[in-house]
Amino acid sequence: MAETIPDLRNVPRARAYTELKGHSDAILEGIDDDVTAMATMAALVHHAFGHLWTGFYRVVVPGQLLRVGPYQGSLGCLDIAFGQGVCGAAAAQMKTVIVADVDKYPGHITCDARSRSEIVVPVLDQRGDLIAVLDVDSDRLDAFKAEDQQGLERLVSWFATTKQ
Ligand code: SME
Repeated sequence: MAETIPDLRNVPRARAYTELKGHSDAILEGIDDDVTAMATMAALVHHAFGHLWTGFYRVVVPGQLLRVGPYQGSLGCLDIAFGQGVCGAAAAQMKTVIVADVDKYPGHITCDARSRSEIVVPVLDQRGDLIAVLDVDSDRLDAFKAEDQQGLERLVSWFATTKQ
């Protein structure tokens, strides 16, 4: 396999995510493995956009505990409780959370001091159960918009729909 990750930093976001979803689906064709899919998506999103940190926190105790999974970037915190930080909030509410300025988010968990804004997207399986969240951090303020929410939610819909 000789897929390369495109540089999509200067491509309009909606189009960029359509392209990334195409790459992700092509790479994952015939794959039925959550860790493989998480690793692939983290690498694609991280390098295509040049983010600070991109990765998954997996549900290890439903309703209670998230633990870091495949990611790209500097060392991530290992465990996050439901309700704690941005990841824990997205997990508890099963809703995407966008934080334009992490310094103004009470309870934000700092894994990398350079982080300025972030988006966390819930990942659901075929039964609609939460299996993980996808966390993307930027060193720029206000880096994530509705297009990012749509694009990332569509990307992780693989776990609910495409997975065999
Ligand atoms: N900032 C996140 C924690 C995870 S790291 O940034 C990789 C949070 O507040 O949930």
